[in-house]
Amino acid sequence: MNTYSLTQDLYYVGVNDRHTHLFENMLPLPYGVSYNSYLLIDDKTVLIDTVESQFADSFLENVKSVLGNRSLDYLVVNHMEPDHSSGIKAIRALYPNVKVVGNSKTIAMLQGFYGVNSDLLEVKEGDVLELGKHRLRFYMTPMVHWPEVMMAYEETEEILFSADAFGCFGTLDGAVLDKDLDLDKYYQEMYRYYANIVGKYGNPVQAALKKLGALSLKMICTLHGPVWTDSIAKTVGIYDQLSKYQGQEGVVIVYGSMYGHTEKMAEAVARGAMKYTKKVILHDVSKTDVSQILSDIFKYKGVIIGSATYCNALYPNISSLVEKIELRGLKNRVFAAFGNFTWAGATIKPLEAFATNLGWTLKSSYEVKQGLQPNDYEQLRTLGGEVAQAVIAQPEANN
Ligand code: FEO
Repeated sequence: MNTYSLTQDLYYVGVNDRHTHLFENMLPLPYGVSYNSYLLIDDKTVLIDTVESQFADSFLENVKSVLGNRSLDYLVVNHMEPDHSSGIKAIRALYPNVKVVGNSKTIAMLQGFYGVNSDLLEVKEGDVLELGKHRLRFYMTPMVHWPEVMMAYEETEEILFSADAFGCFGTLDGAVLDKDLDLDKYYQEMYRYYANIVGKYGNPVQAALKKLGALSLKMICTLHGPVWTDSIAKTVGIYDQLSKYQGQEGVVIVYGSMYGHTEKMAEAVARGAMKYTKKVILHDVSKTDVSQILSDIFKYKGVIIGSATYCNALYPNISSLVEKIELRGLKNRVFAAFGNFTWAGATIKPLEAFATNLGWTLKSSYEVKQGLQPNDYEQLRTLGGEVAQAVIAQPEANN
């Protein structure tokens, strides 16, 4: 078994997934992902969330190794997405007397997903589950990022079980506490996790942060990634910044190019931006995975998108990217567009309309017919410089 003692009575009993290529069958997992689960031992025993069912064997081994001959009294379900809830059936099979604790929405989903409709304990905002010397108080945090999501706060040791919030991709290799891990990859993956999975729900995340703001936190036990202790302030700060749609100083340039003309334009734009900030990130939309592009666009304040004209419309991969940004309602960005065409331009109008609809600050765009002339390079450098200067003039966040 691979369990970790987090406090005298609290154990990490989750698992690592280095097998799955695509999270949600969409998002690459270069560093894998962990499905975290926690077991609290007191007069009563309580398991907080389960793991993906394909890892049920290892998970049950972990739980059994901590419980020994004791029974499991409660299973708290903070989040019903199947990466955490599909292990529920295995736990109920092993511990048939366990009471499953959730709110009314959780209980409806337990029936809907798994046909579970017995041995349930419904909790509401502020309810407390007494375990002995420990007590769990429940806070409803809907739409972070599903409607049934709640968090449990252990009041004696000041530990928050936060569901997906404050989570990130990346397996836990040899340790689970933040202070024992090299955190660079987790923080890098936190932006990608947030932008792609939670990004649409900035307002509910802000509501949750306000609700939890008065709590003293010694430990945050999230469902993916490290258990936060030493780095709580930084981690909560990143979620606060992202959910306010604040951007750090930097310019992300994304382009879609077929024969290299739009790419040359992007290089000139980057050169112009680089005069004002070293944080210039250039992505070929057909090369970099879109989950990473979204991550960078959520992180940085300047966004410049360039597109070749295709079928009298945007280059398809750019069109798809734009749709993903719109879906998430990203706010507070400085934007400019550039485009290339052979006989009729169709890129600037839709790109400017997209940015206007999101309320972004628009700088002058630029379109080139066929090959670039010397003057075009100068115009494009100016475009990049204008966006970078505007970003520097409005610093918002510096995590
Ligand atoms: Fe990790 Fe929303 O499930």
